[in-house]
Amino acid sequence: MQENLKLIDLIIELVDARIPMASRNPDIDELGKGKSRIVLLNKSDLADMAWNKAWMQHFEDKGIFALEVNSKSGSGIKSINALVQKACAEKIERDRKRGILNRPVRAMVVGIPNVGKSTFINSFAGKACTKTGNKPGVTKGKQWIRLNKNLELLDTPGILWPKFEDNLVGMHLAFIGSMNDEIIIMEELACDLLESLENLYPGAVEARYGISGGEPGSAGMAGKLEEIARSRRCFLKGEALDLKKAADLLVDDFRCGRLGRMTLERPESPQTIN
Ligand code: G4P
Repeated sequence: MQENLKLIDLIIELVDARIPMASRNPDIDELGKGKSRIVLLNKSDLADMAWNKAWMQHFEDKGIFALEVNSKSGSGIKSINALVQKACAEKIERDRKRGILNRPVRAMVVGIPNVGKSTFINSFAGKACTKTGNKPGVTKGKQWIRLNKNLELLDTPGILWPKFEDNLVGMHLAFIGSMNDEIIIMEELACDLLESLENLYPGAVEARYGISGGEPGSAGMAGKLEEIARSRRCFLKGEALDLKKAADLLVDDFRCGRLGRMTLERPESPQTIN
């Protein structure tokens, strides 16, 4: 990726709008020095609308252009071209002064696994490429996708690895499904998720499963998982509760947005959200 960075003017960094901190690798700030930058809050359809706005503001305050998008539906994608022009205004002006006219901006998409890079490239490049008759997203080797006369996109995204600075980062990545579920004890993850949601979205879990609140703290969360198991009839043979099944169900409901649009991380600076 470092080699590819030498070839480009603009970094389009995808983060998961539900966890914009844990789904970033802050090394990109150093790696991307001197490049124009755009951060896309992808999967914004699964995140809290008010917090999407607050996060956009947060990145803009840091001098990084930001936009909320849903790569799956294509929502927000149309606004990117105008943002590219804004983010690269200095470079375009520099070129113009040197007499270089109409050199397209060269961009690269980067992000941690599962953040939606391929979906985004297909959504962003799909229509443009149909026009020029190219086949996006499936080309081998280093290929540039010409999106329009102003913008070319490297067809292979740069993979960043998450930075496990503390347990919370790992936990948040596990909540959204960006860790291998096979190495996770689902019942424990479910209890951690219940505790986070109780703090951030009190009442949401109770409303979804028709259960009562229970006690706070980890013992209380185990009790809440049992209530979910009972309410969703997750039983092993006899009357024993199938807590693994209840945990899978809860985590899957969260990941798919069935508990509602939720943002687990908030910008450091306190924001007023209406
Ligand atoms: P990657 O290249 O960064 O590794 O990610 P990829 O595009 O493979 O996307 C990972 C998953 O995230 C896919 O789901 C994809 O559909 C989903 N996704 C990407 N962008 C968005 C978005 O903006 N909103 C929502 N809700 N989902 C998004 P999957 O279950 O692995 O595949 P599929 O069954 O959807 O095809």
